[in-house]
Amino acid sequence: MTMHGSNGPKEPEHPPGTGRDGQPAERAPDPELRAGFFRNLPVLETARLVLRPLTLDDVDDVYRYASDPEVARYTTWEAHRSLEDSRAFVEAQVQAYEEDQIAPWAMVLREAGRVIGTTGFVAWAPRHARAELGYAMGRSYWGRGLMTEAVRAVVAYGFTRMGLNRIEARCIPENRASARVMEKAGMRYEGLLREVMYSKGRFVDLCLYAILRREWAVTREGRP
Ligand SMILES: CC(C)(COP(=O)(O)OP(=O)(O)OC[C@H]1O[C@@H](n2cnc3c(N)ncnc32)[C@H](O)[C@@H]1OP(=O)(O)O)[C@@H](O)C(=O)NCCC(=O)NCCS
Repeated sequence: MTMHGSNGPKEPEHPPGTGRDGQPAERAPDPELRAGFFRNLPVLETARLVLRPLTLDDVDDVYRYASDPEVARYTTWEAHRSLEDSRAFVEAQVQAYEEDQIAPWAMVLREAGRVIGTTGFVAWAPRHARAELGYAMGRSYWGRGLMTEAVRAVVAYGFTRMGLNRIEARCIPENRASARVMEKAGMRYEGLLREVMYSKGRFVDLCLYAILRREWAVTREGRP
């Protein structure tokens, strides 16, 4: 037995490229993948949607959905009260792209030719290859599978191009539509984060959902 501090034989080192149990070591996250991402946010296309950066021309479209109290009911932000609120929001996102800070995609519905919502990452920890998603969309477009379509595209992009290993999303328990989007995008319920956030005058619980790259790789072919 090797005693602490003795000159006895060392424990055998595991061979390079393998972990302690001899299994192949997992690929280490590459923090450099984050550099320039939001400055050059890629355009993603799905059957019905184009996801692209917000521009100042989108202010009216953003106001149309973000001023609806029903849309903001379960979000961390308040419904926009004026076009100025929407302009401030869009300007903040445009500035974030310029400064390579986290900012969402605008969701353009091809058939309408306008922005109907936003989706994207609200957090990204490149060191841990982990990111969190958030989204919101105008009420007249709910229930057509559009957000699921957008989230699937973003999840696929995150795993194939951003080096992510884990993608999370959170919603308050009453927001069943959002929870369904997460489930339909392949995320698994992991638990309730009790009173994890102070929002709109109260402490709120959040349901945590997540999907790992290996789960996505196994199930994506079979998805409807
Ligand atoms: C949540 C939201 C993004 C969903 O978008 P969507 O395009 O309508 O979502 P989808 O059509 O892809 O899927 C919605 C699913 O929820 C279900 N659903 C909708 N309302 C529901 C309710 N009250 N209870 C249970 N399920 C509900 C739908 O039936 C559908 O599931 P199904 O396909 O199994 O029938 C949209 O409602 C929204 O923007 N809400 C306001 C902003 C918001 O809450 N954002 C999320 C914050 S965490």
